[in-house]
Amino acid sequence: MSLKDQIDIIKLPHHIAIIMDGNGRWAKDKGEDRLFGHFHGVESVRNIVEGCAELGIGYLTLYAFSTENWDRPEDEVTGLMELLVDTIRHEVVTLNKNNIRLHVIGNMELLPAAAKKELDDAIRETSANTGLNLVMALSYSSRWELTQAMRKIAQKVRMDQIDPDEITQETIQQHLCTAKFPDPELMIRTSGEYRISNFLLFQLAYSELYFTDTLWPDFRKENLYEAIIDYQGRERRFGKTSEQIA
Ligand code: IPE
Ligand code: IPE
Ligand code: MG
Repeated sequence: MSLKDQIDIIKLPHHIAIIMDGNGRWAKDKGEDRLFGHFHGVESVRNIVEGCAELGIGYLTLYAFSTENWDRPEDEVTGLMELLVDTIRHEVVTLNKNNIRLHVIGNMELLPAAAKKELDDAIRETSANTGLNLVMALSYSSRWELTQAMRKIAQKVRMDQIDPDEITQETIQQHLCTAKFPDPELMIRTSGEYRISNFLLFQLAYSELYFTDTLWPDFRKENLYEAIIDYQGRERRFGKTSEQIA
């Protein structure tokens, strides 16, 4: 039986989040510069987006660029932004063909104007699609997101729109960039690193974590299927006992 056939379609995660890591090491292994790795990472993005759309996954969040990544060498940052603009420009047709809706989370104010415009256009042009929701985390970090959520809530308290005694977990959730999305049931990180690196700290509270040594440019649908099968073999207890959820 193929890996894909081993997936239980009834128990699919609604939302998969991925920390796409290892582009630099992949390139270094081949004696190439880091941008070569990022360039090939785009092929993995295409393949995994297609894989999720085929399976009928509702949401796929891809961590593409963190707030901290702005501190990388200037030529890498510039190259990544150019790659982003080019990729989005070329992919909108495919996104529409596959009924995929693009969303972005992160601090868009830090993006170069050309990248921001390309993204805004792509978001608008795909906004009527009803299949997979593709969420790109760009210039994103969870601590930045939580900080801006706290600011928005504090401003509403000052305007008497929110009573501090009535702030609940839902209030916080509704002020995050991910307000419209369910929490990920499965979070995958490639490249053998076992950390969260400032990604969706609030939203990952009860996610199943899956780590693989595969470097992002080598990650393909088969690797995704393995992660989903592994996820489906786990028991999600949400603090309860095994007997309670049986
Ligand atoms: C992930 O690959 C892509 C980004 C963070 C933009 P890296 O560039 O972090 O690759 P490694 O971790 O150095 O191998
Ligand atoms: C996390 O990868 C961010 C993205 C994949 C976009 P990093 O490579 O930046 O994270 P660290 O530095 O290994 O924690
Ligand atoms: Mg890395």
